[in-house]
Amino acid sequence: MERLQKVIARAGIASRRKAEEFIKEGKVKVNGKVVTELGLKVSASDKVEVNEIPIEKEESVYFLLYKPRGVISSVHDEKGRKVVVDFFPGIKERIYPIGRLDYDTSGLLILTNDGEFANLLMHPRNEIEKVYIAKIKGIPLKENLRKLEKGIRLEDGKTAPAKVNMLSADKKKQSAIIEITIHEGRNRQVRRMFEAIGHEVVKLKRERYGFLTLQGLKAGEARELSPHEVKQIRALALNQSK
Ligand code: URA
Repeated sequence: MERLQKVIARAGIASRRKAEEFIKEGKVKVNGKVVTELGLKVSASDKVEVNEIPIEKEESVYFLLYKPRGVISSVHDEKGRKVVVDFFPGIKERIYPIGRLDYDTSGLLILTNDGEFANLLMHPRNEIEKVYIAKIKGIPLKENLRKLEKGIRLEDGKTAPAKVNMLSADKKKQSAIIEITIHEGRNRQVRRMFEAIGHEVVKLKRERYGFLTLQGLKAGEARELSPHEVKQIRALALNQSK
């Protein structure tokens, strides 16, 4: 027996939160009856419908994509720009990205149809490390990098401590390459952190997510996560959020 919202999320129709909204709005039926109560437990033999359409119990799939720059982290774009699911033409499951990378950011992105897994990874309490390589304009002062390490005030609050490492600095070109490790996933966070110390990010790439890296992939390539990797990432998120 599993909670109704979890079953809907697992079917790849919506995140668990969205599934809860559907339930509250009276859009969900179990064995032909509208259910508005959250948390009702259903079994595999119960017939679940969302907006009158029976849910198909899709197999859960998990992918790691090396997202190129110039791609939207979404399943659809109204302006017709390239989106991350375009890199999975043969996939019948309705996958979507877990979190997002900016249009101009490249790097590691996980896609799945498992709403529960997506929720777990996106929960702010889960402090999975994300490592970014940023090329910035100008050469930052050590004391400013320290500010990023300690946490810096942004318009949506102070950032959590970060690890910051200057990989190289080019005096002639007045630019620097910085490795920055953060746990949070706020909108445009890395770009805003550097802006806060007076440096524009001109290139940004996410190199690592927990223990997952881009190893063996070129921009635009993807691979399936192994069941073991999925288990490990799940365990990492659960451990971190304790
Ligand atoms: N931080 C950013 O500023 N952009 C991203 O895409 C990811 C993290």
